[in-house]
Amino acid sequence: MKIALIGYGKMGKIIERIARSRGHEIVSIIDIENLSDFDSPAFKSADVAIEFTRPDTAIQNIRNCFKANVPVVVGTTGWALSEVQDELKAGNHTLFVSSNFSIGVNIFMAVNSYLAKLMNRFNNYNVEMTEVHHIHKLDAPSGTAITLAEGILKQLDRKETWTKEVEGKPSDLAIKSIREGEVPGIHTIRYESEVDSITITHDAKSRDGFALGAVMAAEFTAGKKGLLGMSDMLDFLKCL
Ligand SMILES: NC(=O)c1ccc[n+]([C@@H]2O[C@H](COP(=O)([O-])OP(=O)(O)OC[C@H]3O[C@@H](n4cnc5c(N)ncnc54)[C@H](O)[C@@H]3O)[C@@H](O)[C@H]2O)c1
Repeated sequence: MKIALIGYGKMGKIIERIARSRGHEIVSIIDIENLSDFDSPAFKSADVAIEFTRPDTAIQNIRNCFKANVPVVVGTTGWALSEVQDELKAGNHTLFVSSNFSIGVNIFMAVNSYLAKLMNRFNNYNVEMTEVHHIHKLDAPSGTAITLAEGILKQLDRKETWTKEVEGKPSDLAIKSIREGEVPGIHTIRYESEVDSITITHDAKSRDGFALGAVMAAEFTAGKKGLLGMSDMLDFLKCL
């Protein structure tokens, strides 16, 4: 498959390595110094583009892919999908979005939803979430923490909204964000009662898991239309 990379930072470089190891050809690499390459024949020849840049540049990059008619897989977090949804539909384009491409995290999301559903019967437990990431991360809470929180809000009737850092009222689900060192990503969900606590944690060992998932998403995306996500690729997420 012919893949174009948008963003050649930490993730872009790992994605390049993993994509090549799976037999794909990298036909174009776009970063801030060569944005005009969106108009190049090489970029337009890609079967799919993979975008890992910054929250404030993702939307323009998606629009550039739509303009070039190149399906795009977006890993950048911290931007609003609603800003491109109308254009996606109107132009019959292809966009795969996930706040976390790691297969392990998506298994964790399934466990998180199941646990939240179970906890409806046990209201003596309160729940909170903590996420830890490297100091370079621009958004907080992480996109993954927000997705996990949405999974809990959907299943656990006594929680209505997620909040940053503190639980203002009992129906709030607090997400605490810690930024330290070079941590690739730790997400912990903790249910606490007076007598015990139940904790589930996903701890990424490196960025490779995200990059592999993004390349698998690119393989899945080629030839498809519309808005795609991990629940299209991983059938066990459909029932959540
Ligand atoms: N969805 C996931 O699974 C997942 C996993 C890891 C990281 N991320 C997200 O991916 C994004 C990138 O992460 P990273 O660690 O590679 O960051 P990074 O800072 O190492 O790399 C970002 C790159 O984007 C480039 N860039 C900036 N503006 C650009 C533009 N307009 N067009 C093209 N390139 C541009 C920068 O020069 C840089 O090389 C972040 O939003 C991060 O939160 C998502």
